[in-house]
Amino acid sequence: MDGRVRGHGGEPAGGGQRLAAAAHPVLGPHRADQASSGHSLESVFMIVCIGAGPGDLGYLTQRGAQLVAQADVVAGFDTVIDVVRSIIPARAEVVLMNYGDQVAQLAAVAAAHHAGKRCVVVFMGDIHFSGFQYLERVERACGHRVETVAGISAAQILASRARVCFDETTFVTFHRRGELEPFKRHLVHVLADQRNAIVIPLPWDAARSFMPRHIAAYLLAHGTSAAHPVEVWENLTGDEAEWHGVLGDCVERDFSGMSIMLIRALAAMPSQIEAA
Ligand SMILES: C[S@@+](CC[C@H](N)C(=O)[O-])C[C@H]1O[C@@H](n2cnc3c(N)ncnc32)[C@H](O)[C@@H]1O
Repeated sequence: MDGRVRGHGGEPAGGGQRLAAAAHPVLGPHRADQASSGHSLESVFMIVCIGAGPGDLGYLTQRGAQLVAQADVVAGFDTVIDVVRSIIPARAEVVLMNYGDQVAQLAAVAAAHHAGKRCVVVFMGDIHFSGFQYLERVERACGHRVETVAGISAAQILASRARVCFDETTFVTFHRRGELEPFKRHLVHVLADQRNAIVIPLPWDAARSFMPRHIAAYLLAHGTSAAHPVEVWENLTGDEAEWHGVLGDCVERDFSGMSIMLIRALAAMPSQIEAA
């Protein structure tokens, strides 16, 4: 690499210094001027992580679709690649991975990136909710920070289906490696503080599994009222299913790994708009 910014045609752009704002493929016109502040431009142009949305291609952002269409390499977990497969150009290389081989496969993507290929790593939903550990792996493989393009999260679709105000809601995920206890305690505090919680459960394996039934049991054991209204939504934007009940009932229920949980505050916050 020669350290210069390259445009889509592989030509040095902006005299090797700065790409014209209108032509910036990842950051868009408003952020083009900031491109040199946080990250190396080289990394911005050659690899980008995008959110694929919740499953239906109709929820992929136009920016994400553009980046996939321009990519030389498109990488991600099988089920996520399936979401964007129909728009991956025939000339692009597809790198599939799973929990077992992700480190090795990301090393291959990083090698392609360092060889000057335009690489897109596709994440489920939005990268910034329950996606950061994967992002860290991408960055570790590349050896530098990587630009992200936000996607639409399952949490946003849930909010839309269930009419939830984000201002009054906290997001908690258990779908992560490492210590879960601080996140469990935080969830107890969120509900004690009379906020809603949107929760991603942990489906991986029997030993660590923290599914809606375990979440409910934990909360009840830590003094949370059994009367909190709960909704569990499965396969949002796909073959959707929804369950409505209260926390006390949830300990009896099984849901698939593709589920997201809403635990409402016991009382909705009063409206603060002006009197009618
Ligand atoms: C690693 S997390 C990634 C979440 C993603 N970053 C997002 O913003 O939606 C994966 C988990 O999110 C939840 N999830 C993702 N998409 C979903 C959907 N369409 N319907 C229900 N749950 C979903 C499931 O619990 C799934 O196991």
